[in-house]
Amino acid sequence: MPVTENTPGSPQNRLSGESPCQVADWTEDGHFLVRTGGKCYQVPRHCPHRGGRLDHGDVNHQWGTLVCPLHRSVFRLSDGEQISGPPCGPLLVKEQL
Ligand code: FES
Repeated sequence: MPVTENTPGSPQNRLSGESPCQVADWTEDGHFLVRTGGKCYQVPRHCPHRGGRLDHGDVNHQWGTLVCPLHRSVFRLSDGEQISGPPCGPLLVKEQL
């Protein structure tokens, strides 16, 4: 099962307050689903910067963000806005209804 495995309680996660990515399912078109804050988002598997595997990223459930594992860009899940990291534009996220 292609689920992101980030070690809960790893030094990195402890410092940032992040918890493991909650990947719920896969779709055929290269997206995965992330559940956080009572909502479900369809997220592209690859980062718009240089194609980092976002399904291996970290979800910060407190802030509702996803962190790319490659260069640590941070994207807001509610609208895909890039909050930090190398400029690359927004992530094309869709909220599942
Ligand atoms: S590939 Fe995601 S931040 Fe560079």
